[in-house]
Order: sequence, then C-alpha cells, then structure tokens
Amino acid sequence: MQEKTFFIKTFGCQMNIRDTEIMAQTLCESGYIESGSIEDASLVVLNTCSIRAKAEQKVFSLLGSLRKNKKNNPDMQICVAGCVAQQEGKNIIKRMPHVDLIIGTQHIYNLPQLLSRSSMSRTAINLADDYEIPRYVPTVLKPSSRRDSDTPPLSADFQYSRFVTIMQGCNNFCTYCVVPHTRGREVSRKVVDILDEIKVLVTSGVSEITLLGQNVNSYGRSNGVTEEHSPYSFARLLHDVAQIDGLKRLRFTTSNPKDLSDELIDCFSQIDILCPQFHLPVQSGSNAILKRMNRKYTVEDYLEKVNGLRKVCPHIALTTDIIVGFPGETDEDFQDTMSLLETVKYNGSFSFKYSDRPGTKAQQLDCKVPENVKSTRLQLFQKRQDEISLEKNRSYVGKTVKILIEKVADDTMAGRTVTNHIVHIDLKDQKHIINPGDYVDVAITFAGQHSLKGALLKSE
Ligand code: 5AD
Ligand code: SF4
Repeated sequence: MQEKTFFIKTFGCQMNIRDTEIMAQTLCESGYIESGSIEDASLVVLNTCSIRAKAEQKVFSLLGSLRKNKKNNPDMQICVAGCVAQQEGKNIIKRMPHVDLIIGTQHIYNLPQLLSRSSMSRTAINLADDYEIPRYVPTVLKPSSRRDSDTPPLSADFQYSRFVTIMQGCNNFCTYCVVPHTRGREVSRKVVDILDEIKVLVTSGVSEITLLGQNVNSYGRSNGVTEEHSPYSFARLLHDVAQIDGLKRLRFTTSNPKDLSDELIDCFSQIDILCPQFHLPVQSGSNAILKRMNRKYTVEDYLEKVNGLRKVCPHIALTTDIIVGFPGETDEDFQDTMSLLETVKYNGSFSFKYSDRPGTKAQQLDCKVPENVKSTRLQLFQKRQDEISLEKNRSYVGKTVKILIEKVADDTMAGRTVTNHIVHIDLKDQKHIINPGDYVDVAITFAGQHSLKGALLKSE
C-alpha cells in the first residue's frame, strides 16, 4: 500500500495552531506520516482564518495554486479546515473542484474518518447545532510518526511551552467579529479532560502551559464542566491547573474585559506560577464606538479593571488589541483611543484596520471610514505604541530576570520572561551547556522595541 503522508498549512490565531496539532495527532494515530512539504504530501490540509479579509484572500490564493499540484498528482487529497471552511464551505465546493473535503471548525477530531468518507464524494461538513467537545487527551508521539529527522516536530518546534484549548466558540457577537459565526456558540471542555491533557504534556517535559479560548473568562458558564454540573469558574480552573506537579508557568488568552472578575484578578496574587501578563483587548478608547461594537463595557469600566490588576500585581505586563477605522469612527473617537493608550501605556499591542466581514452587523453599518484614513490612524497608533513599548522595555535594563530558553544556536540563544518578553543572549565564547527548556537567570543589558538583550547569570 502507498504511504499516506500529510502536510498542514496553518493560518491565523493560536486556536488554529492548536487545532493543527490535534489534526496532526489524529492523522498520525491513523497511520499517516507528517511530510516536510506540500509537494511530497498525499494529503494537504489548509487550516484557515477569516478574521480579516486579507487572511481569507491568502487562503483562496493558495487554494488556487494547489490546482496545479493536483493536476500533477491526481491522487493527492486536499482538505480545507478552519474558519474559511466553516463560512465559505459551499462556495469552495462550487469554485474549487480540486478540493476533496471541507471541514468546519468543530470537526477536527474526526478528520481521518471524514477523509475516508470523502474519497467517495466531495463533502462540506459544517457546524453542528448541538456540540460537545469530545474527550481528547494527546498521546506522546513516537519519532516514527515523522517522515525524517529534518522535518520539524508536529506542532511548534519548541516543545516545552504548549497551548491547551479549554473552550471553543463565543457568545458575544461583537459587531465586527466573524468568530461567533465561524466557531459557533461557547462550549467549555470538561475540567477533567483539561487536567488530564496538561498532565500528559507535563510528563513529556512541558513546563509552561497557555490556556486557550476566545473568551476564557466565561469558561464553565455555558455548559457543565464537572461530573456534578456544579458551578465552576475560570479562576477555579487556574487554581486546579496550578496544582499539577512539575508545571512551572501558567498563562491564558484571550479575555473580553466585560467578563474579567475580581476572583480572576485575585489569582495574580494567589497563584505563584501564574505569569504576570494579561492580554486584555480593548478595541477602542471611545465609548460611542465600544457601544456600536457591542463590547458591553465603557472605557471607565475597562480602566477600573486595569487598575485592579495593577493593584494586585504592580508589575503585570499588559497588552491589547485595537481596531482603527470602525464604521463611523470620527477623529475625536480616534483621539480617545490615543488618550487611552497614554493612560494605560500598554507593553505592546496588536492593531488592525477595520475589515468588513460577511454576516456581521458592522458590515451593514453606514459611514465606512475611507482606507487612507484607516491607514493614517493605524500608523499614528503604531508609532506611539512603539515609543511606549521601548520606554517600557527600558525599565527592565539592569534587572535580573528568569527566562525559559526556546532557542539555542552556536553563539546566541533566546528565551521568554514571565512577562512574555523575548530576551536574546549573546554567548560569545562562554561555554555553557544550556538546552531549550532550561530556565536561566539573565541580567538585562539592552532594550529594543520588540525584545530585550541580556547576559547569562546562572542556570537551574
Ligand atoms: N476587522 C479588523 N480587526 C478585527 N479583529 C476581529 N475582527 C476584526 C475585523 N473585522 C481583531 C480584534 C480582535 C483580534 C483577534 O482581531 O482586535 O481582538
Ligand atoms: Fe469576536 Fe468579541 Fe467573541 Fe472576541 S469576544 S471572539 S471579538 S465576538
């Protein structure tokens, strides 16, 4: 029988990266071997993103070019997964006759079974109305699951820090956002499944975990997550995960500020392995825009939460997401966003031009902001954020921090601090036996806009 090999190309967010890992694992367990390139693979999966129009365009252009690969290799199977598959499934079937299988966001666990079905007819499988995340606990894969030793390991090439999905979907319907349409309503995984998954990872050497969900703060609210279906909060999950022996760092992402509870804020003083960093997307500094975005908080509410976090954890590193040029955003609204930036002084941020998405309420709104105005505002925001990031990073110079080593090369290495800053270390002729996964102390010697430099002090 011919060897079954696969290649997965991932677009978009951390949720997709984690979904790719799960698909890769289920394929390996069904006898597939990971291939190092699209050309060599008998199965190509595109795990797609549709958060902004540009992300979706990239998928369609890659799909277009795969037509030629299929012509040269008619036995190759092409599968489209992720958010574009969910939203544009029928369209892809119609426009892309070379695509064999389209799976919506909730079907990643059944990929091998669906593939054997699709070899009989072309299919698009979509969101199920009533959905429970299946029990999924990874096994530690043997090296034979990979085609050759040059191929990067399944998932990220750094294996000591891993993502664990705790919930899927979102119930918030922010008016610009396609996620509730592509990933469906909120479903939380069972506590026991999450804890079991993390225990397996920690046993295999992982020491840092990031819990993932579209809105982790509402974990456990939409469905029962314990056997007794008793109330259970995200803060409780953090406490329970932190009990796992061998885990050294715990992070989570992402959060809607409206659901950030005092109980969660208190975790930052109660759980010693919880890293002092918080990604708290604000989206806009104007109350009028926040209202039209359906964010359900005001700038004042947001600042109260920021102050609460800083009171409990004075050195917490804060990051955010910003959208500029939401429909109807005036110069004054934009100035309010700039003022918020001055007030909070984020360590870093991700900022985007508003992009119309099909099926969202914002798409129906009038007063769209012209492209050139959006570009100017984005530039102004990013320029000021870069200055602030640099200023913030400079405050670390002279301090000693512990980093988890991610990469080691002949004369340099790099790792991350608890605040999620990347630190580069120049090794020159120092002889140290340090490997990825080690924790080392470094003295920060230099600050750039996006990373720090440090000198090695000692390793654990
Ligand atoms: N246009 C621009 N940015 C968007 N985001 C989500 N939807 C859109 C859109 N339609 C941004 C938000 C979100 C981040 C993941 O992507 O800032 O927090
Ligand atoms: Fe989208 Fe809002 Fe849900 Fe985040 S909270 S995924 S922005 S709808």
